[in-house]
Amino acid sequence: MFEDFFANLPHKELIDILIYPILIIIMFAYNIYARRKKHTLKLPVGLFIFYFATMTVIQILQKYEFTTFLSTLELLSTIFLTLAVIRFITFILVDYLMRYKELAPIPVITRDIGLAFIYVVAILIILRYEAKVNLTSIITTSAVVTAVIGLALQDTLGNLIAGIVLQMEKPYNVGDWIHFDTYTGKVIGMSWKSTRIVTREREVVCIPNNLITRGHVLNYTQMDAGHIATFNIGTSYVDPPNRVREAILATLAENPAVSSSPAPDVRVTSYSDFYINYLVRFYITDFENEDRIKSQILNQLWYRFHREGITIPFPIRTIHHVKEEDVGAAEKSKTSKKALAVLKRVDIFKPLPENALDNISHRVGFQSFSPGEIIIREGQAGQSMYIIVYGECDIMISRGSVTDHVVATLSNGQFFGEMSLLTGEPRSATVKVKKDTLCLKIEKNDLQDIISGHPEVAEAISEILAKRKEDLEKQKESLDEKKKRGDTSLASQLLTKIKAFFSRSEA
Ligand code: CMP
Repeated sequence: MFEDFFANLPHKELIDILIYPILIIIMFAYNIYARRKKHTLKLPVGLFIFYFATMTVIQILQKYEFTTFLSTLELLSTIFLTLAVIRFITFILVDYLMRYKELAPIPVITRDIGLAFIYVVAILIILRYEAKVNLTSIITTSAVVTAVIGLALQDTLGNLIAGIVLQMEKPYNVGDWIHFDTYTGKVIGMSWKSTRIVTREREVVCIPNNLITRGHVLNYTQMDAGHIATFNIGTSYVDPPNRVREAILATLAENPAVSSSPAPDVRVTSYSDFYINYLVRFYITDFENEDRIKSQILNQLWYRFHREGITIPFPIRTIHHVKEEDVGAAEKSKTSKKALAVLKRVDIFKPLPENALDNISHRVGFQSFSPGEIIIREGQAGQSMYIIVYGECDIMISRGSVTDHVVATLSNGQFFGEMSLLTGEPRSATVKVKKDTLCLKIEKNDLQDIISGHPEVAEAISEILAKRKEDLEKQKESLDEKKKRGDTSLASQLLTKIKAFFSRSEA
């Protein structure tokens, strides 16, 4: 039967009938391909398929002179073709050109509303001129319908408008981490109705757009430098703040998730009842893993603090009834034990017997200093010497216009201040703290017995003292020499100038 049908068809009619199905197949194949590739041309191509389908039916109906639905189908085909062309042109202008020429993108919601408006106008025009439909009645009816639907869909429309506002204002983008109300999460989608976020607990929260526009949204990811993560930590009162700060900064520097620029910051925030409180601030770009990064840092801090003898104190509730004097005595014995350990390590005291060292250890005390502090000032009187337990100090002299000339830098186990203590002369130099320093301070009286009972100690100290004095004198001389040379070179410069001036005036 089909063979007869095609055999009887004239050549042109065969093409007319076959051309649309062929085009439908091509476009259908393209749409399957486009769906896989996520192309946005699916809708116009789909509309073209509808157009070709209605045209095929029209061709067949015309062939059999079946005219009942012909005008309706023609109207439909015109509508499909018009909508397809409109969508195709907007695709070229809005989706393709704007995106690929990197012009400011039009929000999806705005584009969709604009398109819907153009579609409605186009359909009304087609109805008016092709089907001679009375538009006034349609518009009146549609206005009534719109009012009814508008009232019914008040909330939905509110969300839609809020969605448009959010698209224009862009307080966040898909992929940003935001906080809204009690929720913190990553934006995974923004639709006409709501914004969807996924929390750290992997829960998806749909927040209606109109709620978001009415509230406050915190965006953690929009700043280029990243997000400032913070935590508080407390250490005991015996640990000098600068040492604690150094330990925390060293731990932060070792963590790859912490940005080095802007640099992390550690601030003392309060002196609490049993600890010194620090606020640690550092930049991270991986907000999603903030908790994990903080946990890593706090974990590493425990080990570093433990190694460096820094204590994280905790309130102890055990109540001891002790006399005030006993507390003082316990404290003293703790200090003298520590002092004895330090004294044993100092070269000049090595020849001393244990009981002599033990004797001094009960009289001395510890003092800690921070960088920049002056422990001893040149020219002042002084009757104490210091042993550096840890840290670094500069020995400096001033000579004429030269101030703070560094003669030497002393560190762990070395001592200073012995010159004035032993000779009674004013301090020969200024001692300034270079790094956090803990010293053991020995007063003249504490040393008196040792010096008289153990001449070898006096000898050892005087040897060092002599060497230092010699060195000091040399450096002072060299500074004087430099000054003299400076003065003579200034005089000779002036002389040259005077000569030059007078030779010019003679000429
Ligand atoms: P005193 O003079 O009491 O105070 C300053 C101290 O600086 C001094 O004792 C020495 O201990 C120390 N001092 C002076 N010159 C030197 C030097 N050349 N090298 C190391 N220390 C020094």
